[in-house]
Amino acid sequence: MKTGAIRAVLALALAGAAVAAPIWSMAAAQQAETPAPVTARPWMDKRLTPDRRADLLIAAMTLDEKIALLHGPMAMPFGPFILPEGAVGSAGFIPGNARLGIPALNESDASLGVTNPMAVRGPQDMSTPLPSSLMLASTFNPDLAFRGGVMLGTEARAKGINVQLAGGVNLARDPRNGRNFEYVGEDPLLAGLMAGQAIRGIQSTGMVATVKHYAINDQEHDRMTADSVIGESALRESDLLAFQIAIETGDPGSVMCAYNMVNGVYACENDMLLNRVLKQDWGYKGWVMSDWGAVHSLEAFMNGLDQQSGDQLDREKFFDAPLRDAVVAGAIPQARVNDAAHRVLRAMFAHGLFDNPPVKGDIDFAAHAQVAQAQAEEGIVLLANDGILPLARTARRIAVIGAHVDAGVPSGMGSSQVTVPYRPATALPARAVPLGGEGMLAMWANVVFHPSSPLAAIRLRMDGPVAPTAAASPLAPPPPSKVSFNPGYYPAEAAAQARAADLAILFVYQPSGEGDDVPDMSLPFGQDALVEAVAAANPNTIVVVQSGNPVRMPWADKVKAIVASWYSGAQGGEAIARVLFGEVNPSGRLPLTWPVDESQLPRPVIPGWSAAPGDVTRIDYNIEGADVGYRWFARENRTPRYWFGHGLSYTRFTHANLRVQGGRTVTASVDVTNSGRVAGKDVVQLYLTDTPGGARRRLLAFQKVDLQPGETRRVTLSADPRLLASFDEAAHGWRIAGGAYDVGVGTDAGTIALRGTAHLSPVPPQSHGSRRRR
Ligand code: BGC
Repeated sequence: MKTGAIRAVLALALAGAAVAAPIWSMAAAQQAETPAPVTARPWMDKRLTPDRRADLLIAAMTLDEKIALLHGPMAMPFGPFILPEGAVGSAGFIPGNARLGIPALNESDASLGVTNPMAVRGPQDMSTPLPSSLMLASTFNPDLAFRGGVMLGTEARAKGINVQLAGGVNLARDPRNGRNFEYVGEDPLLAGLMAGQAIRGIQSTGMVATVKHYAINDQEHDRMTADSVIGESALRESDLLAFQIAIETGDPGSVMCAYNMVNGVYACENDMLLNRVLKQDWGYKGWVMSDWGAVHSLEAFMNGLDQQSGDQLDREKFFDAPLRDAVVAGAIPQARVNDAAHRVLRAMFAHGLFDNPPVKGDIDFAAHAQVAQAQAEEGIVLLANDGILPLARTARRIAVIGAHVDAGVPSGMGSSQVTVPYRPATALPARAVPLGGEGMLAMWANVVFHPSSPLAAIRLRMDGPVAPTAAASPLAPPPPSKVSFNPGYYPAEAAAQARAADLAILFVYQPSGEGDDVPDMSLPFGQDALVEAVAAANPNTIVVVQSGNPVRMPWADKVKAIVASWYSGAQGGEAIARVLFGEVNPSGRLPLTWPVDESQLPRPVIPGWSAAPGDVTRIDYNIEGADVGYRWFARENRTPRYWFGHGLSYTRFTHANLRVQGGRTVTASVDVTNSGRVAGKDVVQLYLTDTPGGARRRLLAFQKVDLQPGETRRVTLSADPRLLASFDEAAHGWRIAGGAYDVGVGTDAGTIALRGTAHLSPVPPQSHGSRRRR
């Protein structure tokens, strides 16, 4: 219903009420005023289904009590806002109800750790920062996503949080998106599975997780005024498919709608996205909460939004008094309020919020550091290596160069940032480097270096543990080390240092964060010149790229190895050193295509980059449509620097004996052999290359396998049929045309060596929507 229509009905109803109040409005008003006495709480019977429990509870609630569930404030002292009474202190809060025993919702960000915005829970409140989700996606290991989720849920509960705003699954359509580090890459299957497993892990601890930002919020620049324009089938086959798979895999209690518009309508009041696709087609039973400051009207309620989050940020608290008035006036049916409240309560029952409330307690940081380290170790991607890695311990002198490498590893900025202080007793405090900015930006524009120093980890391996010196004077000379350090602020100085060493390990970094994109793919702070200078001074230069996205690397051919270590979290320095020294065999694969530069992208210039603030920025996603990332490069015959799926190892894997079977989907079996000398993990990747309708590149399935030297394993992969199908808008379902489908197993999306053909039977349009997967 349009806002105008709601207003008109409201006006009419109020006018009518002055003459003779209609029955329904009196009933509603009465219900609002006299709460039924509660003598028993039948909804606390755990044997009943969550749906039944929610029904029983709703029957005992007044209109005001239901409406109280449908909006809430931010839960931090921010600007004029204060911490709401009873809130633990986090991103958001929905007050509980003592009369009925409904617990409050304490909602915390995000996917990379439990944040403490504005140190609301005190400066000593610590959490374990996980590596970026992009790094998690690079592991291609859904089990690690699950373990990270369990860690996250455990820490959140120990702080009294019961809703974790975690499960970012927006596709990486643009390698300049400031928030790609919070997401899980460009491919719907990989992204959906990884986010889904993280959600499963979080919820397995007894809380709700929130998949976000629904949908196609794939650019940060102008996110509040951006209009993502895209056809339905393209959307269904890309961004929506990622959400669909994440929801089927993880069954999140809530979905967060996004800031942007989709085809001209705000995502949080988009009937097509919320009512038609999510709730009807996918049968989603949880609740839709808004992003903070993303609600523009009461119309949103009828169009599928159930809860207004951070409601002080919007122009009006639409879901408070205006909603109540509209219901009392009959402009919005009670049934819709019941539906929204049911969705919230059902999810709370289903995920243990009533029966198993969080208990504040201690956190096992040592155990959780291991989870962060496991993700980082498998998420590091060895992009290039001419044999210099792994490092021989026999190297005599290493020059380590790069800003803040002595302090730790960088993190992405914004609401997901685990800020101050992650501070295990033995480590230095986190270093925060302000990048400047105003208002909200200033709060967010700090690159926090989590105190896991790559320099210290490399020194430990080269020098051994350093005994504390008796003369602890700060003026005493540092103990002799085989590893020199230079922060790289002056290329000439860094080059001199590199020249004096046998090899140089140069760390570069790219800050990125929520709220805006990076303007282009280049490394900031003159770091390209630094690499050029160091590589010219020492031919044995290894570059470690710490970034939230692929970056331009004009010097790629001048260095001996390139390692992508993203934002690597609590144990990043240790993980990087272990990979460099071969204690860990790298097994990360790129979860997004690494272009040479922006000229290869569907939109070489970021839409709206030079537009005036407030103007609507139209982002035409129909250019690539469903062909995001590698699909686009394959379609356009462009060669990126590295394809999606690329990643080297210290061993060699061979693939042989591909057998392909057709029918209703494609099933492929292949022998994978570790034909090198060290144990390692391969990611077997099955791609679609051609269909009866034309060439089409799609990742159909993948599996990570751990193999000893000489070991062979037969791996069988089966495609999700939606990846073989097209979404037929007219028939409203997925259609598979019968015929020959070419598939292949490759080391990345552009290097497909073993090929086969499967014959598929035609499948008439169907929804494929309600399947549960694990
Ligand atoms: C972000 C969300 C986050 C929310 C609450 C918003 O700015 O887009 O991801 O969950 O703030 O902090």
